[in-house]
Amino acid sequence: MMDSPSVSIKTAAAVTGLGLGAMLLIGGREQMDSADPGFSTWTAVCIITGVSLFAMGRLYRLLFCPLVILRTPEDVGYITEGGRSKAQAAKEVRRRRKVGDLPPVYPNGWYRVLDSHMLDRGEVKNVSALGEQLAVFRGQDGEAYVLDAYCPHLGAHLAVGGRVVGNCIECPFHGWQFQGSDGKCSKIPYAEKVPEFAKVRCWPSCEVNGQILIWFHCDGEDPQWTVPEQQEITKGEWVYRGRTEHFINAHIEEIPENAADVAHLAHLHTPGILSGVDLRYTHSRTWTFLQHDWKVQWAPESEPNKHCSQMLVKHALTVFGCHWPLLDVNVVARQVGPGVVFLLFNHSFLGRGVIMHCVTPVEPLLQCVSHIIFYQSNIPALVPKFILRAECTQFERDVMIWNNKKYISRPLLVKEDSAILKHRRWFSQFYSKNSPRLKYQHDTLDF
Ligand code: FES
Ligand SMILES: [Fe+2]
Repeated sequence: MMDSPSVSIKTAAAVTGLGLGAMLLIGGREQMDSADPGFSTWTAVCIITGVSLFAMGRLYRLLFCPLVILRTPEDVGYITEGGRSKAQAAKEVRRRRKVGDLPPVYPNGWYRVLDSHMLDRGEVKNVSALGEQLAVFRGQDGEAYVLDAYCPHLGAHLAVGGRVVGNCIECPFHGWQFQGSDGKCSKIPYAEKVPEFAKVRCWPSCEVNGQILIWFHCDGEDPQWTVPEQQEITKGEWVYRGRTEHFINAHIEEIPENAADVAHLAHLHTPGILSGVDLRYTHSRTWTFLQHDWKVQWAPESEPNKHCSQMLVKHALTVFGCHWPLLDVNVVARQVGPGVVFLLFNHSFLGRGVIMHCVTPVEPLLQCVSHIIFYQSNIPALVPKFILRAECTQFERDVMIWNNKKYISRPLLVKEDSAILKHRRWFSQFYSKNSPRLKYQHDTLDF
């Protein structure tokens, strides 16, 4: 659904281009044959039509289509000097980097695996998360189910060629069928009896605010909290306006710790968004006329929501040293467990909305981070799209830090950094004795 406008724009541009080419060819030949005086008029009409259609397509996209920014693990945060490609630079940094003395790599909690709109009824998708291969499918009852992807019979991948039958997934190899609700095998096409023990791991899952999430606990314990529903999204008052996706080479805890690292805002995030994301140039003099000012507080919540924390942000913008109060924005960033954050925006005339920020470990040191924005339906889409773009720019500055840094288990902190230690204590509730650790953890990422 999201891609159709861009397809139509490309089609319109292609048709116009072809038409233009044909007209030029015909016109050119006619001109050669008969020196037709109408040639230049037709050419001009074609060019103007083509340019207008193109401009209208761009304008339509800008005003009405969701913003989608998808980055690969190499796209952001690496320095590509000396003729190196992005992929080479990323590989080299990952090989050489010291990772430090890391906490366990998969904290207990809820993690996003897909956006709801990515999974149609009867469709199955393969997702890599928490070091596992998952088959995520939507049954004919409309529910999303998540099972381990490898069939226990002979190991075929259920999400590669597997078929949704009712509310089960059918293995592409010998046709065994597994129930989405509990992973039990319900049918073996050539066997008289289905053994009781024939089953595949079923992941507790839920679908909230347009996201499909799974629960992970290293000891297989049931979910200890739920992901709160944002009522405005369910009621349709806030609508989808775009998403971004990044892959980050870092330990998961580094990402939420940013919220408690109050001091980094005044340094890393103060240069205006026009300064870009490459930290070598963000402090360049050209863009100093635009500056962000941040006032931030971070605190954990108490029982029964001790798995939550809140960052209160007051953001102000200065242009040539002048504060523009009309652009002041208050944001409440509520973290729910290790993998989900709700960034709630409230502005006097730019309206209200939420960015759902989800972090899912793909591997021990590879995090998939998605931001999805829902905003008041009566506010022009341009507003939330701008907010998402600005958030993306600021976030990519952090990515450059995370992709290259070492995790310091005993950081050298000053009094003003005290929230960082509080955050580490708060976050430690998501680790248990058996939480998986990075094996072969030496000084490199060769695990
Ligand atoms: S490997 Fe899945 S049915 Fe045989
Ligand atoms: Fe940051």
